[in-house]
Amino acid sequence: MADQPLNGRVAIVTGASGGIGAAIVARYTAAGARVAAMDLADRLPDVPDGGMVLPCDVTDDDAVAAAVAAVAERFGRIDILVNNAAGPVLVGKVTEITAATWRETFAINLTGAFLMCQAAIPVMAAGGGGVIVNVASQLGHVTTKGRAPYSASKAGLISLTRTLAVDHAEDNIRAVSLSPGAVMTTRLTSVLGGEAGVEERLGKLHALGRVGRAEEIAEAALFIASDAASFMTGSDMLVDGGYTAT
Ligand SMILES: NC(=O)c1ccc[n+]([C@@H]2O[C@H](COP(=O)([O-])OP(=O)(O)OC[C@H]3O[C@@H](n4cnc5c(N)ncnc54)[C@H](O)[C@@H]3O)[C@@H](O)[C@H]2O)c1
Repeated sequence: MADQPLNGRVAIVTGASGGIGAAIVARYTAAGARVAAMDLADRLPDVPDGGMVLPCDVTDDDAVAAAVAAVAERFGRIDILVNNAAGPVLVGKVTEITAATWRETFAINLTGAFLMCQAAIPVMAAGGGGVIVNVASQLGHVTTKGRAPYSASKAGLISLTRTLAVDHAEDNIRAVSLSPGAVMTTRLTSVLGGEAGVEERLGKLHALGRVGRAEEIAEAALFIASDAASFMTGSDMLVDGGYTAT
C-alpha cells in the first residue's frame, strides 16, 4: 500500500473518542485523510491534523443531518464513512433486560449507522463514490450469554452492510463491515478490572491467546477504506484473533 493511501480523501468517524475510533482517526490522518471526528457533545476528541471535530449523537436524526452537512460544507466532499459509535454493552438474559435497553442499543448501534448512511451517501455519490466501513463485532457472528441486544444489533449491522453494497454499487460506493474480537479499550477495562482483568478473562477466548489492540483494528479499517480493497464490498472482515475459529 502507498505511504498515504488516503491522500486527499475526506473521512467521517463516529464514536471518535473511543479506543478504536481514536485509533482509526489517527491512522486515517497519518494516511493523508482529512478526518471529521464525531462523538457525543460531552466526549469530544481533539481536532485531528487538518481535520475537524463535531458533536453528533448518532441517534438524533437532526444532529446527524447537521453534522454531515457541516462536513460537506467544510470539505466539499465525503469519501469515507466509518460507523464506529456503539453504546455500552448492557448485559442480561432476554428475560432480564428491559425493552428500553433493547431499543437503546439498537438506536445507537444499528439505527445510528443507518441515519449516518442516509445523510452521507448522497454527498458521497455526488463526489463520485466512496467507502462505508461499519464497525460490527465478532459477537455479530457468534454470541455469548446475556448479550442479545449487542449481538443482534451487530448482526443487523453486518446485514445492513450487504444491502448498502447492493443498493449503492451503482453510485461507486463500497460497504464493508469490520468485526473485531475483544479489543483493549475502556469499553472492556472499565467493567472487567483493568487491562489485567480483560486479558485474564478474554485473552484465552482467542486463538492467539490475547485480546487485540485498537491499532490492529485501525490497520484493517485503513485497508478497507483504501483502493487496495477495491474489489471488496458487501462482505465482512473478521479481525478477531481467532475468536470465532475456536
Ligand atoms: N472493544 C472491543 O472489545 C470491541 C469488540 C468488538 C467490536 N467493538 C466495536 O468497536 C467499536 C468501538 O468500540 P470501542 O471499544 O472503541 O468502544 P468505546 O466505548 O471506547 O467507544 C465508543 C464511542 O462511541 C461513542 N458513542 C456512544 N453513544 C453514542 C451516540 N449515541 N452517538 C455518538 N457516539 C456515541 C462513545 O462516546 C464512545 O466514544 C464499537 O462499535 C464496538 O461495538 C469493540
